[in-house]
Amino acid sequence: MNDDVDSGNLAKVRRYYDRTESRLGYNYILGGTKHFGWYDGRLSMWSFRRALERMEDELARRLGLPSGAKVLDAGCGTGAVARALASRAGLHVTGMDILDWNLRMARERAAAAGLQDRTEFHLGDYHKLPFPDESFDGVYTMETLVHAADPTAVLKEFHRVLRPGGRLVHFEYAHPPQNAMRASSWIALQDVCRLAAMPAWLEFEDGVLDELVKAAGFTGVTTEDVTRRMMPMVRAFYIMGVFPYFVGRAIGKVEKTVNAMSGVEMFQHQDAWSYNITVATKPEA
Ligand SMILES: C[S@@+](CC[C@H](N)C(=O)[O-])C[C@H]1O[C@@H](n2cnc3c(N)ncnc32)[C@H](O)[C@@H]1O
Repeated sequence: MNDDVDSGNLAKVRRYYDRTESRLGYNYILGGTKHFGWYDGRLSMWSFRRALERMEDELARRLGLPSGAKVLDAGCGTGAVARALASRAGLHVTGMDILDWNLRMARERAAAAGLQDRTEFHLGDYHKLPFPDESFDGVYTMETLVHAADPTAVLKEFHRVLRPGGRLVHFEYAHPPQNAMRASSWIALQDVCRLAAMPAWLEFEDGVLDELVKAAGFTGVTTEDVTRRMMPMVRAFYIMGVFPYFVGRAIGKVEKTVNAMSGVEMFQHQDAWSYNITVATKPEA
């Protein structure tokens, strides 16, 4: 991996999460969590908390690990998913992120929930994991691999730290081939990836992540498109984002309203993207 490219990308990721709009949006609208919700039944699109919990429970189900198993949450943010898996699935979760202010919150919230003995949080980049070989039963990413400068290098690291038979789960975005979407959708996707520092999302044309996961040495790779499960939240973000995005564009500062822009553009260009769950296993030796 080219360190210059990588550190340049990490700086962009940090800048994106450090924006006032990102801090306010994630903290006050999603309570510090930074992933989409899972909607089924008659859940209102505004029931964010319940939808977020359901998405976390879907992750626990896909990991399928027994209580006490050790898992790595790569790109853990403020640790909402880690706490959910520790408290509701009994897992021991090691979270890792590049944002020190997120990790402070993760530790405080884990302590407040009495989960210190089942969670730990480390500052670091998932391209270079500071953990020994075969030290986890499971590794997951929740909406963060799209930020990677070099997803191949990240997947090799995940393979290294997983024990044989260990489970890998990704909840990530992909997109259809450029020629299968409208020209305006391709432009919108490129804009969102650039402003939200998500270079790997552009790389993740349908099927590409599966191939990268296989190339990293995993077997039993399956991907499920669950876009319809999270669409109600995209619709809610569209409604909330229309006015701020309009203002951002009017004053020529779209980068200051990048989350509003993403909500609006994702809703208006649904042919440009999908939301998928990929699961795989590290083969037994
Ligand atoms: C959309 S947020 C998701 C956070 C968390 N998984 C959740 O669901 O709430 C993506 C997170 O990945 C982190 N991240 C991005 N690139 C990273 C890297 N190279 N190493 C570690 N964390 C990274 C970001 O700092 C951010 O906290």
